Amino acid sequence: MSTSEADGNGGTPLLRISSLAAYYGELRAIYDISLELRQGDVLAIIGANGAGKSTLLRSLVGLMNHGARSHIRGLIEFDGKRIDKLSPDQIVDAGIALVPEGRRLFARMSVQDNLLAGAYLPRCRAGIPTRLEQIYSLFPRLRERRDQVVSQMSGGEQQMVAIGRALMSSPKLIAFDELSLGLSPAMVDEIYHNLGSIIETGTAAIIIEQDLKRALAACTRFCVMLEGSIVLEGKPGEVGEDAITAAYFGAGIGTHHVQ
Ligand SMILES: Nc1ncnc2c1ncn2[C@@H]1O[C@H](COP(=O)(O)OP(=O)(O)O)[C@@H](O)[C@H]1O
Ligand SMILES: [Mg+2]
Repeated sequence: MSTSEADGNGGTPLLRISSLAAYYGELRAIYDISLELRQGDVLAIIGANGAGKSTLLRSLVGLMNHGARSHIRGLIEFDGKRIDKLSPDQIVDAGIALVPEGRRLFARMSVQDNLLAGAYLPRCRAGIPTRLEQIYSLFPRLRERRDQVVSQMSGGEQQMVAIGRALMSSPKLIAFDELSLGLSPAMVDEIYHNLGSIIETGTAAIIIEQDLKRALAACTRFCVMLEGSIVLEGKPGEVGEDAITAAYFGAGIGTHHVQ
């Protein structure tokens, strides 16, 4: 039973996005997006290139407020407080961490120094040794390679570093932009296994994933984005893969909301 069912209509969602629009200059990259996430939810965002998936995550973590040319409109509430006007640092502090597409690691620094970079907030400092230990337990490969320079590691290992760095801030919600893109099948298996362990600790997740089957197997809810809007949402198993694929390609079906 999900938290939402347990709570009936009551209970505050962990994340609530209402009527969100995001702009790059004059270009409106996403519009009228509303969604809710509860603790324990894993939301998969599915959609073609350019659908606005990354922009949605960038909006969530404050990066659209940051550039001179981009901005958002609408309301984002997280853990009971409004966050849509906050800076990226304040949003990490509030409990949301992003694993960005392309990872954006410090390539010439060691694994451990990259992990430590994720714990820069004052509230994280005291817990660093415990947190590092938890991350090394989750990713034993990283423990073995803690002193290795990141640029010498495989793509999958680098993805583990990026996930570990995000976890160093002890997030309540972790968002992955292109969780498995470009990784070998064996490494994708391993990353999804790790995702399962992260979720078991009670962390909610949003995953952007190109592999529809993987996304549906891992998520508790999904939404399909097309040209900046959500055109289909539901729970895996409740909506057929044909309908999801049709929505992905914009095959003219109506919005289907499943609560
Ligand atoms: N930095 C940017 N400046 C201008 N337009 C952008 C920028 N980033 C993305 N866009 C545009 O916003 C739209 C959504 O892009 P994006 O969120 O990256 O989609 P997705 O992640 O689903 O591939 C696209 O039309 C893209 O060209
Ligand atoms: Mg993207």
